[in-house]
Amino acid sequence: MAKDVRCYLVSRNSDGEVRGNITTIDKSELPDGDIDISVKYSSLNYKDALAAKGHPGVAKSLPHVPGIDAAGVVTVSQDPRVQPGQEVIVTGYELGAGRWGGWSEMIRVPSDWVVPLPEGLSLRSSMILGTAGFTAAQCVREILRNDLKPDAGPIVVTGATGGVGCLAVAILAQLGFDVVASTGKKEACDWLLSLGAKEVISREAALNDRKRPLASVSYQGAVDTVGGETLASILRAIDVNGCVAACGLVGGTDLPTTVYPFILRGVRLAGITSALCPMAERLSIWDKLAGDWSVKQLEDVVTEIPLDRISESVDEIYAGSVRGRVLVAVS
Ligand SMILES: NC(=O)c1ccc[n+]([C@@H]2O[C@H](COP(=O)([O-])OP(=O)(O)OC[C@H]3O[C@@H](n4cnc5c(N)ncnc54)[C@H](OP(=O)(O)O)[C@@H]3O)[C@@H](O)[C@H]2O)c1
Repeated sequence: MAKDVRCYLVSRNSDGEVRGNITTIDKSELPDGDIDISVKYSSLNYKDALAAKGHPGVAKSLPHVPGIDAAGVVTVSQDPRVQPGQEVIVTGYELGAGRWGGWSEMIRVPSDWVVPLPEGLSLRSSMILGTAGFTAAQCVREILRNDLKPDAGPIVVTGATGGVGCLAVAILAQLGFDVVASTGKKEACDWLLSLGAKEVISREAALNDRKRPLASVSYQGAVDTVGGETLASILRAIDVNGCVAACGLVGGTDLPTTVYPFILRGVRLAGITSALCPMAERLSIWDKLAGDWSVKQLEDVVTEIPLDRISESVDEIYAGSVRGRVLVAVS
């Protein structure tokens, strides 16, 4: 059997260690689905690093191909809504989690997952954004839906140099909000200011006294990619009827809070799921990213790597040391 699909396959070796390697598989080994896509670009998200390490909460079984993002050209379609030759994006759902993902020259997916590439984006720019940009835009949408206004106080973004964080900083700043970027990377201060942050603070400065039910008001809203103690601190420091869009867990999965921010200040906690975002909302978010919310500094946030350099980048993102977005040139 001619094996002709190059991919990054994560498997467990005879010593029980989980390892990722570039290999080739046959098309027939791809999962079931009615659309085949020749993948041009994918990306590296924190969730991909979990899959690459064999985390069972993401990679449901091994061997596994990570990659929650893919952009490419349709080669086979059994659905008349999707045409061979069409440029498309697939992000989220089970891609790169329950199903083999975008770190592969070809993916096979259900047609219901396929988003036509919106006018205004290229396959490359769509994957510089990827799930990170999509999630950042979902967070921004929650902030706007909750009526937060640019002149009503700052918005804090945590994990600001990460993929979601830096793109949230850029979009919010473009919309006129005063953005406070919280980061563990002192050296990234000028870079965050260049993306539009008004102020850069340390991770520690985003924390406050956990013994007190509320802290003095510092922000009207937040995009939180960190979770844990950071999210609890931010909830204590949000203004009346403010909104926190919570999407991440890099700092912990616990939420050690009380009900006081909610019942004394009317703070709204908006949970974000990019993977399960309904298609109508998904299309509308991608249209925003291609149009009104298009990020001007995409080339300033991206590091492009080939598929065979992905292992080192996985270790870096796992350690929290990546700045911006890692674009994976697949083929
Ligand atoms: N809900 C959803 O649908 C959804 C979608 C996408 C991502 N996410 C989640 O959002 C988070 C960010 O994703 P990403 O892809 O943007 O990851 P990323 O690029 O690795 O960014 C995470 C950033 O968080 C900060 N950080 C790392 N470790 C930390 C720690 N122990 N304590 C505090 N801050 C830490 C770092 O930024 P600084 O050095 O600047 O602080 C890091 O760059 C992840 O938890 C991911 O799973 C969720």
